[in-house]
Amino acid sequence: MKLQSMLACLLSTAIVVSAKVSTIWLAGDSTTAPDGGHNGTEGWGQYLKYSFGDQAVVNNSAYAGRSARSFTREGRFDKIAQALQPGDWVVIEFGINDAGAPQNGSTSTTGDKGRADCPGAGNQTCTVVFNNATEVVQTFPTYVKATARKFLDLGAAGVVIAEQLPTNVWESGNYSYRSPIFAYYSQLATLELGGPASNVFFVQHGGYAAQAQRLLGKTVVDANYPMDHTHTAPFLADVHSQAFVLGLKCGTSPLANLVVNATARIEQARGPCLPANATLPI
Ligand SMILES: *[C@@H]1O[C@H](CO)[C@@H](O)[C@H](O)[C@H]1NC(C)=O
Ligand SMILES: *[C@@H]1O[C@H](CO)[C@@H](O)[C@H](O)[C@H]1NC(C)=O
Ligand SMILES: *[C@@H]1O[C@H](CO)[C@@H](O)[C@H](O)[C@H]1NC(C)=O
Ligand SMILES: *[C@@H]1O[C@H](CO)[C@@H](O)[C@H](O)[C@H]1NC(C)=O
Ligand SMILES: *[C@@H]1O[C@H](CO)[C@@H](O)[C@H](O)[C@H]1NC(C)=O
Ligand SMILES: *[C@@H]1O[C@H](CO)[C@@H](O)[C@H](O)[C@H]1NC(C)=O
Ligand SMILES: *[C@@H]1O[C@H](CO)[C@@H](O)[C@H](O)[C@H]1NC(C)=O
Ligand SMILES: *[C@@H]1O[C@H](CO)[C@@H](O)[C@H](O)[C@H]1NC(C)=O
Repeated sequence: MKLQSMLACLLSTAIVVSAKVSTIWLAGDSTTAPDGGHNGTEGWGQYLKYSFGDQAVVNNSAYAGRSARSFTREGRFDKIAQALQPGDWVVIEFGINDAGAPQNGSTSTTGDKGRADCPGAGNQTCTVVFNNATEVVQTFPTYVKATARKFLDLGAAGVVIAEQLPTNVWESGNYSYRSPIFAYYSQLATLELGGPASNVFFVQHGGYAAQAQRLLGKTVVDANYPMDHTHTAPFLADVHSQAFVLGLKCGTSPLANLVVNATARIEQARGPCLPANATLPI
């Protein structure tokens, strides 16, 4: 009797421990964020939970208007780091607000709004005064690598660095998609962090979203950019979430094992896995 209840107690403890559900933290801009770019648009991060069922919890900490630089300066990565539990995942997707070069004397409402990264792929810095404070601005890969290292040091199961989403691929009248420079920087940062061997994974989110938009066709895609060519209506945000999940499942990340959907089913709807080779850190 005593032994039995002890065993039952041990067993239920083991079940509680193994049932700890990981949180997937999302860091990004309006294309990911709750309420997207406002006015009825939505970010893809809001739909990610539907592909994980009760296998994971999603916390969408993306925030409209932010870049890798301003997300860092405003302490938004730090906020994720403070709440992160060992075994959690972090997805980092920036690029649409990162372009340009830092300006002197701008404020949060003028000029570059303090979001342009220092141009370059390496350890270049740009020193500027922003909001009356001197700021040593880093490059995109420097910001992403620094925050990813912090999450891994805190015990994150892994970090996913995702390529930014495309704008409307049918805008010109015909399908057109070119991977932007920040997609390359995201891939580079993943490689420089050690890639899959170091639990850092690249997702070709832009490429998968472009493929999904191509398959949907111009009429549907146009109708799902109600405001401009960047911010999506809920339907297309959901499609972009599925495109992310497909990119994850076409790679080697253990996070893909928590997805409730079969890869073949996602491929039927959103297109096949994109061509890959051993150098792509997916
Ligand atoms: C969003 O809607 C508000 C209210 O209708 C409008 O004032 C604003 O210009 C819109 N913003 C954009 C970016 O379309
Ligand atoms: C996400 O996490 C942040 C930081 O811990 C928290 O403030 C926020 O309420 C969470 N959001 C949701 C939807 O749980
Ligand atoms: C910046 O990178 C260059 C080239 O990789 C290297 O030679 C240099 O030492 C680095 N500088 C700093 C301050 O890390
Ligand atoms: C901003 O101003 C400082 C001080 O005048 C100067 O050293 C720096 O090079 C300027 N930065 C840019 C990007 O113009
Ligand atoms: C910057 O300094 C000016 C002049 O002192 C002041 O009027 C302004 O409010 C300051 N701006 C910020 C964002 O602190
Ligand atoms: C789209 O492609 C078709 C066929 O190649 C071409 O005739 C047409 O001019 C193109 N339209 C635009 C807007 O580029
Ligand atoms: C997975 O299935 C759920 C439930 O049907 C659905 O909401 C979600 O969009 C699917 N995810 C993908 C990537 O297809
Ligand atoms: C691997 O794929 C990437 C992305 O498509 C490409 O840039 C790279 O050149 C390829 N490398 C090799 C060795 O084929």
